[in-house]
Amino acid sequence: MAKSDWTCSLSAICEWESPDYEPSLPVSEKSNPLTRDIDRASANSIVKMLQACDAQMFQEETGSTYHKLLSDQVVTTLMEVAKRVELVLKDPEDSLVILSGCGTSGRLAFLITSGFNRALRQLNQSPVYSYIIAGGDRALLSSQEAPEDDPKLGMLSLKKVCEGKKRVLFIGISCGLSAPFVAGQLDFCLQHPEVYTPVLVGFNPAHQARDEPLPGCTFTFLSVVQRMQELAKSHQAFLINPAVGPEAISGSSRMKGGSATKILLEVVLSAAHAAAFSHTPVACNGILLHLRAYEKTLDLTYAQSEIITDLVEAAGESLRCGRRVCYLGWGSLALLGLIDASECNPTFGADFEDVRGFVSGGYRELNNKEGPLTALGPEFCIAHEDFLHQVLPRLTDKDTVLLIYTHSDDVGKVVDLARRVREKTANLHAVYHQTDEDTSAALQQDEISRLCLSTLKIAWLQGASVSASLLHMQWELSTKLVLNAVSTGAHVLKGKIYQNHMIDVQVTNSKLYRRATRLLQKLSGRPESQCEEALLKTIYGANKLTLDMTTSDVITHTCTAVTRTKVVPLALVCLLTGCSLREAESHLERQPVVREAVEFSGSKSFRPMCPRDVLDVPMATTQINGQPN
Ligand code: F6P
Repeated sequence: MAKSDWTCSLSAICEWESPDYEPSLPVSEKSNPLTRDIDRASANSIVKMLQACDAQMFQEETGSTYHKLLSDQVVTTLMEVAKRVELVLKDPEDSLVILSGCGTSGRLAFLITSGFNRALRQLNQSPVYSYIIAGGDRALLSSQEAPEDDPKLGMLSLKKVCEGKKRVLFIGISCGLSAPFVAGQLDFCLQHPEVYTPVLVGFNPAHQARDEPLPGCTFTFLSVVQRMQELAKSHQAFLINPAVGPEAISGSSRMKGGSATKILLEVVLSAAHAAAFSHTPVACNGILLHLRAYEKTLDLTYAQSEIITDLVEAAGESLRCGRRVCYLGWGSLALLGLIDASECNPTFGADFEDVRGFVSGGYRELNNKEGPLTALGPEFCIAHEDFLHQVLPRLTDKDTVLLIYTHSDDVGKVVDLARRVREKTANLHAVYHQTDEDTSAALQQDEISRLCLSTLKIAWLQGASVSASLLHMQWELSTKLVLNAVSTGAHVLKGKIYQNHMIDVQVTNSKLYRRATRLLQKLSGRPESQCEEALLKTIYGANKLTLDMTTSDVITHTCTAVTRTKVVPLALVCLLTGCSLREAESHLERQPVVREAVEFSGSKSFRPMCPRDVLDVPMATTQINGQPN
């Protein structure tokens, strides 16, 4: 597609739902027809594509084979789970509600439990929510993908959090119904029904759950889901798994998967709080109204697509010339900045310095279980003071800085920081939420606008029907959408994406290993065995594989891959040109833009297969029931 305007047709919006469309892949791994050419799109078109992809979250179910966010079946389950939470809230003694997940799913578990525990404290109630993230608190801020593969670790961390509890509502989040860590926890819940009620949140139909054998286990994710489906009939387990359509960047579940997780769980917990503390019984209408409020959030946010485009362009330019993007945030919006930044490493192979988040108040504001993590290294320094000491002195106009705040934050402090940043760079921007009635910080806001190159200001209606907490959750979602667009768009502009695939993906767990092999098949047109061989050669840095390497299991491969960079691009160049690993390395050094490197190096032999052709290629030998996830 040329760098011109982009519009999408209705058939493109629904194309992924056709049974013939990439039939061997679960929804969460399919490539989105809307973004096939995102790698060649202008910033403006990128934002429009992301908007269209996000809108798929609220697509109607009519005539579809998939359950959607607004479908009766999903709304009914949300009500049932909300009633379970209500019971815990009314009788919290020895009870817990746990949210658990890996990567973004765990980070959102942290964000949501923090917000709702805060709400309980404001009501003088004791907190009942707790979070678990695979890899512990360091995973809140950095990529820790290996623990995701460990079902036993999941089970043990759940057991530890629940010691002495008599009743636990466990909510496991795995967008792709695939994380072994979560499967281990759900299996444990199913074995101890006297204490645990399991809930699973994800975005594939149940039969598309991952069916790969798990080391040391007799169950797979799919078999756990099937047991839960059986128990769901008697309300002893719950599955919340609407399809929200493929991600804009294939498999990047931090985007729609993360947004839909936030939406669904906030709807459930808000309904439970209203029932327990405001005499508003859980009802279908309330749930639907809340869901519709989020749909409106998408509209209001993307109504500012011109300014979002400016932000994408600025961030893209910074990354293109090897400079950085910094998010300076206040309150929970700052946490969304931290989350977005932390995802750039595993998603785009970015350095932690490329996109960084900072929060006013640092770890005091974060209030995570393990406390300050600064001793772990510079990437764990997250306070504004850290920004002032470590980053500000080296800032230039080539770096992009985003201030992220709302009118209820200390806007005076925002002005102070804006002034200091402005002394070093003019490339300063603001993302700001306010209510339509609020004028309290008008003067300070004017000054911030003067200091900034662009200001994305979203004014929200605060009528009687919109509570302060709902408004705040809408601000958070809106901020998430904007930041996801900025970091994704910027990396697309930097050339990190091929078509709509993250080609420079880290191969640091089994799901990513399978995805990498599949991608190599798709882009080289070579058989799976050759692609896996090329992948292993780059992982082990060997032109010839030893028996030891070929007979090791996937976990060993992924542990080795942690120490390597550009694994997939290197393997692809080798496959396309037949060159040695060393030659491929020097080729990629000369041409770091992956699409160009690939097309140039493969100019004679490169013929990417069309998605339909390639995704019917038989997948990994370990796959069962056609689930190569
Ligand atoms: O393996 C990494 C990753 O894909 C992250 O990007 C993602 O946030 C995490 O896994 C969780 O995936 P899921 O929610 O599907 O279990």
